[in-house]
Amino acid sequence: MSIQAAYNSWSSSYDQDRNLTRDLDCSITKSVLSRLKFKSSLELGCGTGKNTLLLSEISESVTALDFSEGMIEQARQKLNVNNVEFRIADLSNAWPSQNSAYDLLVCNLVLEHIEDLSHIFKEAFRSLQSGGCFHVSELHPFRQYQGGKARFQRGEEVTEVQAHVHHLSDFLKAADDSGINLKTFNEYWHPDDQGKPPRLAVFMFEKP
Ligand SMILES: C[S@@+](CC[C@H](N)C(=O)[O-])C[C@H]1O[C@@H](n2cnc3c(N)ncnc32)[C@H](O)[C@@H]1O
Repeated sequence: MSIQAAYNSWSSSYDQDRNLTRDLDCSITKSVLSRLKFKSSLELGCGTGKNTLLLSEISESVTALDFSEGMIEQARQKLNVNNVEFRIADLSNAWPSQNSAYDLLVCNLVLEHIEDLSHIFKEAFRSLQSGGCFHVSELHPFRQYQGGKARFQRGEEVTEVQAHVHHLSDFLKAADDSGINLKTFNEYWHPDDQGKPPRLAVFMFEKP
């Protein structure tokens, strides 16, 4: 099943399914971003809008991209705000963004589905204003080494969504090659993760 078809299928239960990675990402994103203010944000792979409401509160305007109509439809139904524009777009292609248009880019739990990180960072560099921030939160590669990946269940059938392993050094190299600087890097565990490798790798990059 293609990644797009998998998320269309998952969309109706994504918010309700047990998913510790989604829940941890939600609380960490809030703690990292909620006290900041932005003019114009671009959300990459907004899904069902789990983080989009927060972005609409900290940013004057938000453009939220995703290639799954099912996921984006859930987000549209959930959010009743007038400063968010949802758009269908495949992040593996050129993004529908103006050059230097955003002071915040946000990408949560998406890049495991995208093979070419260098394309993402090149497009991020193009879309960000100088001084703009790029928040990236991903399933930690240490979890991927152990077989962790996005998956959902329908009845007895478990669907694993196609994923690529990006090592920590891959993120750093792609950012560096694009001209974007790393500001902070942190690793996070869910309270249920005692004794396990970190669940999330969270980067804040900045365009100089
Ligand atoms: C695990 S969900 C995360 C959604 C949301 N960011 C969150 O944190 O809940 C991954 C999302 O990435 C989207 N996605 C994956 N590959 C994509 C691509 N190439 N272009 C656009 N969206 C993509 C999927 O459709 C899905 O909505």
